[in-house]
Amino acid sequence: MSLNEIICKYDINQTKYSIKIKEIIKHKFGEKIPKAFVKTYGCQQNVSDSEKYKGMLSQMGFSFTDSQNDADVILFNTCAIRENAENKALGNLGWIKNIKKSKPDLFVIICGCMTEQENILEKIKAVYPFVNLVIGTHSAHKFPEFFYKAYQKIHKKIYISEKADVVPEELPIKRDSKLKAFVSVMYGCDNFCSYCIVPYVRGRERSRKPENIIEEFKCLVNSGYKDITLLGQNVNSYGKGLEEKINFPELLRRIDSIDGDYKIRFMTSHPKDATHELFDVISESRHIAHHIHLPVQCGNDRILKLMNRKYDIKTYLEKINYAKSKIPDLTLTSDIIVGFPGETYEEFKDTLELIKKVKFSSLFTFIYSPRSGTPAAKIPDPTGKPEKTKRILELLKTQEEISKNLCSEMVGKKMRVLAESLEPKGGYIMCRTDGNITVQIPNHKEIIGNFVDVMITDSRNESLIGKLI
Ligand code: 5AD
Ligand code: SF4
Repeated sequence: MSLNEIICKYDINQTKYSIKIKEIIKHKFGEKIPKAFVKTYGCQQNVSDSEKYKGMLSQMGFSFTDSQNDADVILFNTCAIRENAENKALGNLGWIKNIKKSKPDLFVIICGCMTEQENILEKIKAVYPFVNLVIGTHSAHKFPEFFYKAYQKIHKKIYISEKADVVPEELPIKRDSKLKAFVSVMYGCDNFCSYCIVPYVRGRERSRKPENIIEEFKCLVNSGYKDITLLGQNVNSYGKGLEEKINFPELLRRIDSIDGDYKIRFMTSHPKDATHELFDVISESRHIAHHIHLPVQCGNDRILKLMNRKYDIKTYLEKINYAKSKIPDLTLTSDIIVGFPGETYEEFKDTLELIKKVKFSSLFTFIYSPRSGTPAAKIPDPTGKPEKTKRILELLKTQEEISKNLCSEMVGKKMRVLAESLEPKGGYIMCRTDGNITVQIPNHKEIIGNFVDVMITDSRNESLIGKLI
């Protein structure tokens, strides 16, 4: 497929649908502005998608509420990565059923990764027939059109099954923060890790053109954003399929050359595609945070092979050593899956050894969750939940010690942090280091939204205390 076929501008028709909806709701609600409740499950890609849904809802004339009881429209942006994420969304849908009894006009939308699975669609149709609109991850750029058709009951209920692997551009965005923002650089995933549902629900990898990314990034810097995260399921394979020959390090170089006072972050990086060039760019850059989230998943080569991760621990460690030699103050974080089918306790212990060696500042840890349709779901899994829970607790305990030690080593150091917000209670300002570690400093309201130099005076388990220099 050529790039022209997959690039999809937010076309004028969608704006026309938004205007039509605005007229309809004006007629229906009069002076009252109807409210939408948007609930996001899962990863930062979903948070970013929800900001686009909110942008479009705002264009249609809706305001927003934090209470689903108050809402005229409820949108659940769902996640399919683990069973518990799905159960949470389905559980909440059960609640909506009650609200809808007393408020039959309530308009309910389900979107996101869950809706790309046939079994879930069947379940929604059978158990939650009050849902008004189901919209897949591939169709967000046509949200106003589908909303209009469902709202007007042109179709009693719509499911949009088209699987066009588009690269949506120019969608309206209502960002949650004035300081931190996400910029998608690519969509989808081609890696097919054996446990993971993402390639099935988000489609093949496709990258945005660099000029569109840079334009969006410049706009954010000019509007005062200070902490901007480039998003993709595997940002390191950015550029595949584009007419222009460009890789992720080169994209970073171009973004880094934009003048301004800001930090660049990116996630997620697949270790197999994290090259020396990537670490060189970070070390030479002016704006890239000295932090890399590099999910290793586990510390045992047999399990890594079964996971289809395409690297071994030796290679992973070589990359980390190179990165640390280039960027001595680098902070590392990772994702770990505990209890992959067939993982023995001895193999799990390799993960403990690995995390002690690398010294990640923090970990996202998960118990393996079988996902129907993935190869791993077919592997016999003799280890029960209690044993897996025991392992994850052991992992967390080991990591707690590592994080605590890393934080205590930072005491006495000077750091540049972003002053993010005033703590609700204690009169402290919450700041964040390059490595995403929080630092509490005494209240100086005027610094919120700025980078400031602080001296670290004390440490807690996974956070720091400091004072303004
Ligand atoms: N079970 C548990 N964790 C999973 N992840 C992805 N799929 C599964 C699964 N089936 C984790 C991986 C990934 C993170 C986003 O979610 O660690 O890096
Ligand atoms: Fe899932 Fe692997 Fe793709 Fe990450 S790289 S989204 S874990 S398939």
